[in-house]
Amino acid sequence: MLARRSILSIPALQFLLGQTQKLEMFGDAEAYDRFMGRWSRLMAPLLVDFTGVPDTGRVLDVGSGTGSLAFAIGDRKPASHVVGIDPSKEYVASANRKNPLPARISFQVGDAQKLPFPDASFQACLSLLVFNFIPDPAKALRELRRVTKPGGTISAATWDYGDGMRMLRVFWDAAASLDSSAERLDERHMPLCHAGDLSQLWKQGGLEEVDERPLDITMRFTSFADYWDAFLLGQGPAGAYVRSLNRDQLQQLRGEVKRRLPQSEGEGPFVLPARAWSVRGTVPTRA
Ligand SMILES: C[S@@+](CC[C@H](N)C(=O)[O-])C[C@H]1O[C@@H](n2cnc3c(N)ncnc32)[C@H](O)[C@@H]1O
Repeated sequence: MLARRSILSIPALQFLLGQTQKLEMFGDAEAYDRFMGRWSRLMAPLLVDFTGVPDTGRVLDVGSGTGSLAFAIGDRKPASHVVGIDPSKEYVASANRKNPLPARISFQVGDAQKLPFPDASFQACLSLLVFNFIPDPAKALRELRRVTKPGGTISAATWDYGDGMRMLRVFWDAAASLDSSAERLDERHMPLCHAGDLSQLWKQGGLEEVDERPLDITMRFTSFADYWDAFLLGQGPAGAYVRSLNRDQLQQLRGEVKRRLPQSEGEGPFVLPARAWSVRGTVPTRA
């Protein structure tokens, strides 16, 4: 059993208390891409297809991070114009640097709760793995509704942090088996990550034709190191937890995680599934 620690200073706990804006959980674009961006790149085309993004017109990527979703929209809809917005200056700079289609895709700094766009200025708004990080998701949805044309679509997806996201499930189950205080930090306590959560928000937000479904992907890891090393980069609640451990605790956790993974017998490649809950809804055409 790991020694009990004071966890009040751990950024992940602040996150669970709803103080995400004060955190620096997001900011290192390279580390983000290594930890989570590889998953976003697989998930993004599924959300674009589920949304039914129109072939032409302006599309907003809310919480665009390092750009996975905006790039997927630009790729699949060659006549679209995509704007990505994110509060992280570093992510926005990284997305602009990597942008393969600068004539049609742009990124800017901003907050979903106070969008710097006129009413009805987008055909569709999409948001990938963001809504559970927004302090006031209902306010953000009102903003998305305001900037989307009547009849346009608003969609979002968040990880199923319960059983669906195996990469994190294995990590948090291993951490909680060694350290009872880790259980409180487990991302399965996050808002908007269970079946029905997003569709309830969408219906309460006055959207019509609300449809929710799971989006499933699998990730191939080339080795245990390919899985584990990403947790050492300080990204998200799991990365913040790892950074709070001393060397011995970290070694214990590493061993316990390894024991629980499908490749525990060896060092070879393995595959983990991941599920996100996605929702789409239509902006009413009448006032
Ligand atoms: C898990 S990342 C997802 C990024 C990207 N959509 C992707 O799929 O890779 C969560 C993102 O939400 C952004 N975010 C946090 N609070 C936000 C807010 N109030 N408005 C817009 N984006 C926000 C973060 O900066 C971060 O880029």
